[in-house]
Amino acid sequence: MSDYVSHKLWGGRFSTPTAAALEAVNRSIGTDFRLWPFDINLSQAWAVALWGAGVLTLEESKTIERGLAAVAQKLAGGAQPLSSDEDVHTLIDRMLHDEVGDVASKLHTGRSRNDQVATATRLWSMDACVKLDAAVRTLQQVMVDHAAALEDALMPAYTHLQRAQPVSATHWMLSHFWPLERDRARIASASRAAAVLPLGSGAIAGCAFPISRVLLQGSLGFGTISQNSIDAVGDRDFVAELLFAVAMTATHLSRLAEDLIIYGSSEFGFVQFGEAFTTGSSMMPQKRNPDALELARGSGARAIGDLTTLLATLKGLPSGYNKDLQDDKRVLFDAVDMILLVLPAVSGALQEIRFDAKRMRKALSSSMMATDLADYLVEKGASFREAHAAIGSLIRASEREGSELDALPLDTFKSAHPLFGDDVLDWLEPARSVARRDVPGGTGPAAVSSQLRSAREALWPVAEVARGNELILRAV
Ligand code: ARG
Repeated sequence: MSDYVSHKLWGGRFSTPTAAALEAVNRSIGTDFRLWPFDINLSQAWAVALWGAGVLTLEESKTIERGLAAVAQKLAGGAQPLSSDEDVHTLIDRMLHDEVGDVASKLHTGRSRNDQVATATRLWSMDACVKLDAAVRTLQQVMVDHAAALEDALMPAYTHLQRAQPVSATHWMLSHFWPLERDRARIASASRAAAVLPLGSGAIAGCAFPISRVLLQGSLGFGTISQNSIDAVGDRDFVAELLFAVAMTATHLSRLAEDLIIYGSSEFGFVQFGEAFTTGSSMMPQKRNPDALELARGSGARAIGDLTTLLATLKGLPSGYNKDLQDDKRVLFDAVDMILLVLPAVSGALQEIRFDAKRMRKALSSSMMATDLADYLVEKGASFREAHAAIGSLIRASEREGSELDALPLDTFKSAHPLFGDDVLDWLEPARSVARRDVPGGTGPAAVSSQLRSAREALWPVAEVARGNELILRAV
């Protein structure tokens, strides 16, 4: 490498070569190479803008545009960066020179890698949001399918992981659907936050040539343009917002995974894992381990770490662009790649799961209807506090006798409270308990059917999370 002069976008003012140790730490091509389709698009739009501003002739602008298309073709065909390429912008500049010669040197007029990388990262994020929305939606669809199939099944709901009250299994399944629905709203919001065009901000003070930022915005599919060039080159809020949306999604997946892992244990036996998404043990032949779900549970830690890393990078940073910002992409790509691996694995694992309605039903004990018994007394005229105390004494009696509430003699009920009548045992029926909770959002049958309808409606039509990515998709 000693006599090879690497292609650099800077260096004129230097008389000694860059230290190898600096080059090693400064080089970001290993991370940002994947930005190339977006960098090509924004560079093509920039060539047109420079023609509009009278900086390039139409001929030059077209030559550069065609050259960039040829570079894109080579990269799509597998062309790899040289170890000397500092970053993706330098790589594309070098390849463009190889393609069209000296005219390539005019493309960098009026722009800086500062507004360039911010633009490319925003385009990448907008594109990622489309993929994230689709992957979350797929999982939600699996949930809706299970929810519909479980409509007649009852199961215990837990608070503090202690049996609390009976609920419809559909209700439980959909309790994991709505958090994902909120995640999709956050992803859409992160996409809108990303869709603000920085290009035209130059290094920090704006572009000195009369380029049309509005035309750039329209041709690249941004929703609006940035209002302040100093802010535009140093703003990574949109990365933080997307990372939060991913971290929250991963957190939700971890809670779903944990429920399923517990329910799949022999002690619960509510669900049976399928074979395609479980693994065996190298030692214990009987094992079937829910690895996909465990990995999903663990993935939250990494996503939270990525978000925290970015916030720590941004905190206390002076305004404008600072090289610290180069690391935004490491965490952004890590979190998005991870969740795009995890979501299909969770969707697959959940799709394969079989629910055992009998086991779920068997886990319902009559003491879970203790609240219903209190309600019974309230309906007969007792105050809730008085009723609560009376049921407490019944529970103590059942624990003393070692028998369930529904096995206690009627006299024990009557001595716990005079308002107890012969119909009390009917109130220990789980189906009745569930049916009584038919307020909107409750677990009663009509409420759950309407919830299921709302869940289906939420999945239709496909949310429009990013507009105008056609250009990007065409380049890839
Ligand atoms: N590779 C850099 C990044 O990702 C591009 C911007 C470099 N800007 C500069 N002034 N050196 O942030």
